[in-house]
Parts: sequence; structure tokens; C-alpha cells
Amino acid sequence: MSENKSEKMSVANARKAEAIGREVLLQGWVRTRRDSKAGFSFIELNDGSSMGGIQIIADKDLENYESEIKRLTAGCSISVVGLVKESPGKGQATEVQAKSVTLHGTADSETYPLQKKRHSFEFLRTIAHLRPRTNSFGAVARVRNCACRSIHNFFQEEGFLYVHTPIITASDCEGAGEMFQVTTLDLNEVPKVPDTGTVDFSKDFFDRPSYLTVSGQLEGEIYASALGKVYTFGPTFRAENSNTSRHLAEFWMVEPEAAFFDLYDNMDLAERFLKRIFRDAMEQCHEDMEFFNLRIDKTILETLTKIVDSEFVRLPYTEAVEILTGSGRQFEFPVTWGCDLQAEHERFLTEEHFKCPVILYDYPRTIKPFYMRVNDDEKTVRAMDVLVPKVGEIIGGSQREERLDILKSRMAEQNLDTENYWWYIDLRRYGSVPHSGFGLGLERAVQFMTGMTNIRDVIPFPRTPGSADF
Ligand code: 4AD
Ligand code: MG
Repeated sequence: MSENKSEKMSVANARKAEAIGREVLLQGWVRTRRDSKAGFSFIELNDGSSMGGIQIIADKDLENYESEIKRLTAGCSISVVGLVKESPGKGQATEVQAKSVTLHGTADSETYPLQKKRHSFEFLRTIAHLRPRTNSFGAVARVRNCACRSIHNFFQEEGFLYVHTPIITASDCEGAGEMFQVTTLDLNEVPKVPDTGTVDFSKDFFDRPSYLTVSGQLEGEIYASALGKVYTFGPTFRAENSNTSRHLAEFWMVEPEAAFFDLYDNMDLAERFLKRIFRDAMEQCHEDMEFFNLRIDKTILETLTKIVDSEFVRLPYTEAVEILTGSGRQFEFPVTWGCDLQAEHERFLTEEHFKCPVILYDYPRTIKPFYMRVNDDEKTVRAMDVLVPKVGEIIGGSQREERLDILKSRMAEQNLDTENYWWYIDLRRYGSVPHSGFGLGLERAVQFMTGMTNIRDVIPFPRTPGSADF
């Protein structure tokens, strides 16, 4: 194929009117083939560059017409050299008159699982190696990619520096004890400390217990305390036994952290940030977003457009509790001041009461991690959660406790060993400043933008309790 003079082109580009008149090389996978009585075949070719494929017309006088082209089935991989023409058909600008069709790989229609019909998402999860070839998963992959590009563009344009925080760590940022342990010890013969009978971690790889990170925040604070505005964006891990449509054991989180930043700066940043990624998806993944609007959630484009053009509600936790208790609604988990809000409460506020994103802030200190700044009332901390309809919490963040003595007492309150966090405490000892940050769960964001109901369907290879296939 290297001596072929035809211009290699993506299906996405060949579908544009500008391509008319060009001889191109297209390569991808057959979605459908139908034969006309007049003696030619229509092949719908898709290469993943766009939701829609391109129609290839293959005449019977092509030399492999009977032997190969007429036997093409869904999933076959082919190269097509042909001329891009204006299409007489509706809904497409162009089509391609094939000069040659080269078959690379067949896909036996007796066994190939992706036939032209709708498959359930549950079924598609069992074939995660083939599901990216479907319209839905192709669209999710492109929207997810677009969100990642927007995340970097947004923070770079806002002057944030991208830092890489570690994946293996010895500290539990959220203090929730939901960490996966990392070890090279032989679990069948774990070395023990003779006197105490506890595991001898001096024999382990890192000389101490170590884990997969639940958040890059604490290390993000180190860099913010020197470079001002930073963000980290990477995989995070939670060994929480939550089998819900919104929880993964491995998910991607973007975490900005900024010095000289208070909670209101943090809210402004979060709101600008979310609006930017939603707007970019609608502009840059237009066709995919239309697909989600048609097939997955008929309100998604309207919802996103409204969000981009309006202001988020900002509400202290205490007022949220008043709204919830005064709502007359029977919740499965009754609400009292001091309780952690459940998904049903968050959804009531954002879906029914305000019908827009809500930034809840100033939560009770007892339900939030040690690093959040204690308010003057001493009962609440400068926490904020951004809630959106259907998904609930999409962002969690706070202003951080920058006062040494209060941080230490908060750690004691939560039974944390200050020795393990000596470097974190040092940041308050040397040049401490007010600072804030937050974490956005990438999958929750993609879930919200696409209307996909299960978080397992917005990450290529979901890890959930009892499941790490593919
Ligand atoms: O609210 P979280 O636990 O906050 C933190 O980890 C902070 N250290 C972030 C920071 O301030 N830098 O998690 C942040 C977000 C949640 O709002 C949610 O979107 C997502 O991460 N998240 C999950 N997404 C999928 N599966 C899970 N198990 C998740 N847990 C949290
Ligand atoms: Mg949270």
C-alpha cells in the first residue's frame, strides 16, 4: 500500500464536502453491507474518527467483488481506495466510489457478537474488548477525550501548572481507610515481628506499608505552596465496597490546588471549569452529543446549554438541611443537622428543588476530612461539594486548614498519626498561606455530560468490587 498515491484520510474528513473530488485511502471496519440488484454493494465504513460512517459504493467489476466484497460482514476490516463524490442521499454530504477494496480481517457473522441490533449495556460490559466498536462506546470515548483536552486547556489557560503526584503513597488523604495496599510480600508467608506478631513491613518493598493513592491533593498542596496554582490529573483508587452506578474502584480525578485562594475563589473556579468542559463537548463533539440526546437522555443538550448559561446555586449545608427537613418528603435516610447527605438528599436538592447545579458548603466538621479549614463557628468546615442532577456529587473540595495548631488538633480528633504527616504539617510551619482546591471525578463528569446511567460505561475498563476483567 505504500506505493499507493491516494491520500490517507479519516472517515470524518472524507464525510466533509471539502473532500469531494479527491482520491482517498480509507481504512476501517465494515458496519453494514447491502447489495443492489443492479450489481453493486453499499458498504458502511467506520474508522472511529466520527460517529457516522461513510458509504462506499463497490461495483461488481472490481476484481474481488464476488470472492470478497459480496462476503463482507459487520466487523471486517478493509482498506478502500476511491473517489469522494457528492452524495445524492439524504443525511450525508459525500460517498466514495471504490477503485479497490482490500480485505484485511474477516469477522465470522456466526460468532461475531456485534450484529446490527441494539445490545444492552450489561451485555456489552461482558465484551469490553469489542464494545468500543459500537456507536455508544465510540461516542463515549470521543467525549471523554474531549473532556480531557478541555481540562488541560482550561487549567493551562488559567495559569495552573500540571504536576504529577504519586500513585503509590503511604498516606491516606481522605482518612477513610479505603486504600488498596501495595506489597511484594508473599501473602502465604507473611513475615512477622517476633514480639508483637504483627506484619514485619521492614521486609516489604518500601520498608513500610504503602498503598494506591485515593487523591493527589496532599502532594498537590506541596506544589501549590511553592508554585501557586497547580493541578494534578491521574488515576485514583478506592477500596470502598460500593456497588452503585456512580462508584468505581479505579477512577480518574483532576485536582487543582491554589495558594492565596479562599473557598469563594474555589467555587468560582469550579463553576467556570465545569461550564468550560460542557461547552467544549457540545461544540467539539456535536454529532456524538446529538446521539446521546437522541438515544440516551432526551434532555441532555437542553440541560447542558442551560447550565452553561446560568449560575450555580450556592448554599450552606445548614440551609440545605432546613430545605430537606422542611420539604415534607419521606427520605429513606432521615436528615438531621450533622448527618452526611445521601444521594437521595443531594438529588432532591439539585433535581427537584433548585433544578440546577448546587454548590453546598460549610459542612459539619465531624463528617469531613482533617485537612478542611475550621470555620469561626467551630462546628463547620470550609468544605464544598458540587452537585448536579442525576449524578449527584461531581466535585468535592475545600479551603485547607493553614493554621498549624488547628490542623494538629484536627488530626488528633480523627486519630491520625501526626508523624506520618510530618511533611504536610511542615507546610504550615514554613510560609503557610490560605489555599484551596477540589477534585472532579472524570467519570462522573462524563456520565453527566452523556446521560449514561452507569459509570461502568464511561470508562473503558471498569474496576468494581469483584470485577477486574479485561
Ligand atoms: O470528594 P472526594 O473524595 O474528594 C477528594 O478526594 C479530595 N481530596 C479532592 C480535592 O480536594 N483535591 O472525591 C472527589 C471527587 C468526587 O466528587 C467524585 O466526583 C469523585 O471524585 N469520586 C469518585 N468517582 C468515581 N468512583 C468513586 N468511588 C469516587 N469517589 C470519589
Ligand atoms: Mg466527596
